[in-house]
Amino acid sequence: MATGIRQILLLGANGQVGFELCRSLAPLGQVHVADRSGGDGRLAVDLARPGSAAEVIAAIKPDWIVNAAAYTAVDKAEQEHELADRVNHLAVAEIAAAADEVGAKLVHYSTDYVFNGRARSPYVESHPTEPLGVYGQTKLAGEHALAERCAEHLILRTAWVYASRGHNFLRSMLRLAAERPRLTIVADQLGAPTPARQIADATALLLQTQDASFEAHKHWGTYHLTAAGLTSWYGFACAIIESAHQAGWLSAMPPITAIATADYPTPASRPAFSALDSGRLRRHFGIALPGWESGLAQVMGQLTDPQRILPNP
Ligand SMILES: NC(=O)c1ccc[n+]([C@@H]2O[C@H](COP(=O)([O-])OP(=O)(O)OC[C@H]3O[C@@H](n4cnc5c(N)ncnc54)[C@H](OP(=O)(O)O)[C@@H]3O)[C@@H](O)[C@H]2O)c1
Repeated sequence: MATGIRQILLLGANGQVGFELCRSLAPLGQVHVADRSGGDGRLAVDLARPGSAAEVIAAIKPDWIVNAAAYTAVDKAEQEHELADRVNHLAVAEIAAAADEVGAKLVHYSTDYVFNGRARSPYVESHPTEPLGVYGQTKLAGEHALAERCAEHLILRTAWVYASRGHNFLRSMLRLAAERPRLTIVADQLGAPTPARQIADATALLLQTQDASFEAHKHWGTYHLTAAGLTSWYGFACAIIESAHQAGWLSAMPPITAIATADYPTPASRPAFSALDSGRLRRHFGIALPGWESGLAQVMGQLTDPQRILPNP
């Protein structure tokens, strides 16, 4: 499509990050929005179906593809290895090959779950990977397949993503705080809760910066992108509930007990230490996300339906 207007294909528009990308990318050009089923003027791209993404990419010939779709059910992936691999790996390989074919640049997201969580200091991009479960394995395989097939790519590894909508820890905590007299939350996994909106805004900035840079100054490859700071799920839960109480959404704060991962077994193992060093992104692009606490304040301010999540304030 040689219209002179930047053509962007967004895959996975219904997800936490995908939803925010619809807004962040809109000012940058014509955004062709795709989700799994299509409808309402959207394109249908089902990554579980071989050829689905490639057909759309060949038809649109976008300047940029932003892939926010992924199989993200970490525990279920242990049982659904084939589907997780199809969506997170084989479909990503297909997208990358199709992008290369039409000369599109590609933005893709990956995860802290590519690491084993046994590091003592924040992970840099070059740190050896060792996923602990199927989800991380398939995301890592997707990273490799993409890098092999499409040179002009950005893989943004992020972590602990949440938003004012969608399925996430923040919304689960608010619901549970209204339903249960007390909560028990894992305190020995550390990470940086990162708002989907900040990931989307950073993506839009990256896209603009790359397009505005001379060829020799374009930086492609893998980058870590998370909020600054570090907390545990327990610390995050306390901050969420305190903030909801202050907003008047909770009449009382349920007591929260810190527990160990060993006391809350899940089908998939999770990395205990998920801190990602985002310094490379700051050095190459001048992009750095604020601390997770200010991200939480921002997302709490975006909640439009606290009374639906918290039925008995
Ligand atoms: N969530 C996290 O904590 C986290 C942490 C680190 C990295 N990431 C990465 O960040 C990216 C965005 O994650 P997110 O939190 O926005 O995930 P999300 O809210 O779970 O959204 C994922 C989206 O992918 C779509 N999808 C799943 N299977 C598909 C298929 N077969 N065909 C087409 N679309 C499909 C889903 O569609 P439906 O809406 O139809 O189900 C959903 O809209 C992903 O690459 C993820 O791996 C996430």
